[in-house]
Amino acid sequence: MTKNFYITTPIYYVNDAPHIGHAYTTIACDVIARFMKLDGYDVKFLTGTDEHGQKVEQSAGKMGLDPQTFTDQVSQKFRDLADDLNCAHNDFIRTTEGRHKKAAQDLWKRLEANGQIYLGHYDGWYAVRDEAFYAESELVDGKAPTGAPVEWVEEPSYFFKLSEWQEPLLKFYEDNPDFIAPTGRRNEVISFVKGGLKDLSVSRTTFKWGVPVPGNPDHIMYVWLDALTNYMTAVGFPDENSDEYKKYWPADIHMVGKDILRFHAVYWPAFLLAAGLTPPKKIYAHGWWTNEGQKISKSLGNAINPYDLINEYGLDQMRYFMVREVPFGNDGNFSHTSMINRINSELANDLGNLAQRSLSMVFKNCEGKIPESGDLQKDDLALLNAAKDVLPKLRNFIGKDQALHKGCEAIWSVVGAANKYVDTQAPWGLKKTDPKRMETVLYTLTETIRILALYVQPIMPESASKLLDQLKVPESDRTFDALEKSVVGGTPLDKPEPVFPRYIKEENNVSR
Ligand code: MSP
Repeated sequence: MTKNFYITTPIYYVNDAPHIGHAYTTIACDVIARFMKLDGYDVKFLTGTDEHGQKVEQSAGKMGLDPQTFTDQVSQKFRDLADDLNCAHNDFIRTTEGRHKKAAQDLWKRLEANGQIYLGHYDGWYAVRDEAFYAESELVDGKAPTGAPVEWVEEPSYFFKLSEWQEPLLKFYEDNPDFIAPTGRRNEVISFVKGGLKDLSVSRTTFKWGVPVPGNPDHIMYVWLDALTNYMTAVGFPDENSDEYKKYWPADIHMVGKDILRFHAVYWPAFLLAAGLTPPKKIYAHGWWTNEGQKISKSLGNAINPYDLINEYGLDQMRYFMVREVPFGNDGNFSHTSMINRINSELANDLGNLAQRSLSMVFKNCEGKIPESGDLQKDDLALLNAAKDVLPKLRNFIGKDQALHKGCEAIWSVVGAANKYVDTQAPWGLKKTDPKRMETVLYTLTETIRILALYVQPIMPESASKLLDQLKVPESDRTFDALEKSVVGGTPLDKPEPVFPRYIKEENNVSR
């Protein structure tokens, strides 16, 4: 039976140029999606853009564009970014699409039919930047707790009976202990819900750019109710009998930044339970990046452009850095020094040199062919077994816990063991004394590199495929099933080329 797996990024607001925060969520999801696919799952990986709301209407206005033209342009930038990050998403959703409006309105109608929505009047604070309502008591120095400016809003509004969902939500969290990750975040959400929930304003009348409320088009659906529905639109909702819906709903993971956890872990399951639908299995909230120790903000103008990193360091290098540098779930700091250190030590020295020196020895000393394995000795078997034993660890770290950094560590512990093995076996000295043993050692190394390259694919797809190409591993043997196979003795190789170059700063040409 096929195993299905559905993972989503948040849909990105189109009022901003793509920056490192967007790239981070998308790369993290891509690593997980690729891992699951290699492990035999039928994966749906969704990303897209959140195009409605007052903030987008205002941004379009500032540029002198109508909102549709504006969103077409900016949405394309996010689509390009996902491609340029080499993300293997298989759907891209825009909330301005017909399929989405239909889904959002359908969810509204179900809530209304279940008596969960009523018409009232909203008097209170609203932060356009966050597209969020705030209570007076939440304001800090007259601003939203996020620092966003707030405005006083008085308008007729539909309300969702969120206050009725406090107990059912707490029970839901208890029955589904993995619903919110990591644990620290789960505790935060639980104490927020325990603090009491008020009914939520779910429509606005003072602007037009959004999904009209069914039956009362003077009202526009609250942008978060509209936006959250995207995750179901993309699997065919409201058609609960569609193949995609049956295969992929409930979603396995909604990956989000910590700032938007409340919308995903409180409002979203409440809407779904109230509509008689099943909530997703997990909301994972990752941390935020700072730039060389400073909070990234528009006023400081210190947003990191992902394209600058790709151009300076290389795409796979950037992907590796982002998942390796920070314990996933924590906040992290971006620094050029740290990026360069990781590229030069872990990629160029550790993995890159292992592959390059081993394959060069094979090429030179084994007539340009992969050697046959002779009798494997204890040390050879220990290395090969250690390499194979990484898969169950990755299943836990990446598939189950999303501890992406631990996944990297597990792979690199074998890289370290393999480098030690080269030193202790010293195959270069065996050529004259024991050529058969030299071949066995080089076979063991070649096979270890194949296994490592298979594991590295989700993190650095292009570099891993270069390594696998060098080892002449056919495309059909690159899933984790193929761990059971082996490099084939006698296969002719091309002269090996280094896959992980050292980073050398261009201006002064000094290797750092
Ligand atoms: N449109 C909403 C999401 C709706 S999902 C139904 C939104 N969009 S966003 O474009 O503002 O943010 C998208 C993601 O970028 C969030 O997950 C946010 O946490 C992430 N990041 C923005 N800045 C970031 C950092 N400096 N570091 C890491 N991620 C950050 O919110």
